[in-house]
Amino acid sequence: MLTVEKPAPQKHGLAAGSAPPAGADWTIDQGWKNYTPQEHAVWKTLFERQSRLLPGRACDAFIEGMGKLPIGAEQIPDFRALSEVLMQRTGWSVVAVPGLVPDEVFFEHLAHRRFPAGHFIRKPHELDYLEEPDVFHDVFGHVPMLMNPAIADYIQAYGEGGLRAQKLGVLEHLARVYWYTVEFGLVQQPDGLRIYGAGIASSYTETVFALDDPSPNRIAFDLARVMRTNYRIDDFQETYFVIDGLSELLELARIDFAPLYAQVAGQPAHEPGTVLPGDRLLARGSGAYAAKKRGLHRP
Ligand SMILES: [Fe+2]
Repeated sequence: MLTVEKPAPQKHGLAAGSAPPAGADWTIDQGWKNYTPQEHAVWKTLFERQSRLLPGRACDAFIEGMGKLPIGAEQIPDFRALSEVLMQRTGWSVVAVPGLVPDEVFFEHLAHRRFPAGHFIRKPHELDYLEEPDVFHDVFGHVPMLMNPAIADYIQAYGEGGLRAQKLGVLEHLARVYWYTVEFGLVQQPDGLRIYGAGIASSYTETVFALDDPSPNRIAFDLARVMRTNYRIDDFQETYFVIDGLSELLELARIDFAPLYAQVAGQPAHEPGTVLPGDRLLARGSGAYAAKKRGLHRP
């Protein structure tokens, strides 16, 4: 069974032709009282196995944020309770959506410090496979990081940048930056490499793969480089980009991407596993995992 998280860019885009379920902002009531004991049990299974794995693997900000939030094993969190704590800390809230929402709706929420979270949870036989981001990915993976001021500002800036990028027709470049930071980012801490990306932190198998497996590249984050790098949406990443600290994201939130869009415009994209001469390599991957998968899929 694959462990595949299909987070952000799928989250906003695929449903663009659908009608909004409620208001124009696509938000709905979480319907917390409607969760069944079986659904809370799925949350518990996911929560417990991930909580065992993450100490020493997730970054300090993730562990600290998780510790201060009303998130526990016993039940799916109530978004209102989460929002109360988040609002006091970084001014963010969590709003429920039924699943995929169009790009502009997603960006609009982020630009106003509202994190749209899927209100449903995966089925017991789908623990490691997600068609759409569910409440475990969105809440367990993303919300602890939103307690961190740098990430809080960065994701708001991404929402504002997304609205601009849409107008400029360069969304693809910006989406790669989100993917390789908010979803699949690694950070160098003084005590070692750690996870801060929600796509990794909410995935049982990618948590181990991203840090320990010799297959993927681990390359120092470079904005223009990342803007040109394709990613895997249906499997483990072939390359993880590593920031030196969360403050690096704060710098990203403050810079004007427009000159970089112009710089990368028209240039070909790099394949996910490619290593370039200018890359600052922390570890060159063996590529063994991806090669094996390609071999298996060869006709
Ligand atoms: Fe996500």
